[in-house]
Amino acid sequence: MSKGLFITLEGGEGSGKTTMITRLSDYLRERDIPYLLTREPGGIDIAEKIRSIILDPEHTAMDARTEALLYAAARRQHLVEKVIPALEEGFIVLCDRFVDSSLAYQGYARGIGVEEIRSINLFATENITPDLTLYFDVEPEIGLARIAANQGREINRLDMESRLFHDKVRSGYLKLVQSEPERIKVIDASLSPDEVFCSLIANLRCVLKDI
Ligand code: TMP
Repeated sequence: MSKGLFITLEGGEGSGKTTMITRLSDYLRERDIPYLLTREPGGIDIAEKIRSIILDPEHTAMDARTEALLYAAARRQHLVEKVIPALEEGFIVLCDRFVDSSLAYQGYARGIGVEEIRSINLFATENITPDLTLYFDVEPEIGLARIAANQGREINRLDMESRLFHDKVRSGYLKLVQSEPERIKVIDASLSPDEVFCSLIANLRCVLKDI
């Protein structure tokens, strides 16, 4: 089906993933490499609306399964409306978060169960899987301190979770890495921004030889 490449970027809060994605966009643009940058939940109008419902700090009554279904619904719409068409046109699609976020946050950290989350996401994605996933790994203590220091960043409902929740997110991600080491590559996000970026490019070279 797809002529392009589907690359997803994952990480806990304060992993520096968003900053690295901006830097990567500049890098690809300067080299005239056709790419599409997008994010989850969001990336298109309907999914951005779902995002604002999920992440609204006032929605403290939201049930964990409702949350998981809303992420999956936003994912479905984003996939059919934006990601699949871009892949068919041959773009490199860089997506800030995908199914692994739901497995780590809702499956492991919320305790719904990984297989339960996998099955609703199989329905949503019809098993479309990234060609490569880059996981920005940082200890929650460091990540949460970075967020606290970044005054301009919006605080969402998941940022308000406990340290224990964020520890579970990280150990969930590390289990996913263990189960799929070919697809998911770990980047040590505690290093300096330049070192993190070098590691990002080195990992991308595994699937994009010419960058
Ligand atoms: P962001 O801050 O990277 O934009 O992501 C928004 C929040 O949503 C972040 O706390 C991670 C969370 N999230 C999930 O819990 N499950 C998901 O499936 C996705 C895509 C994000």
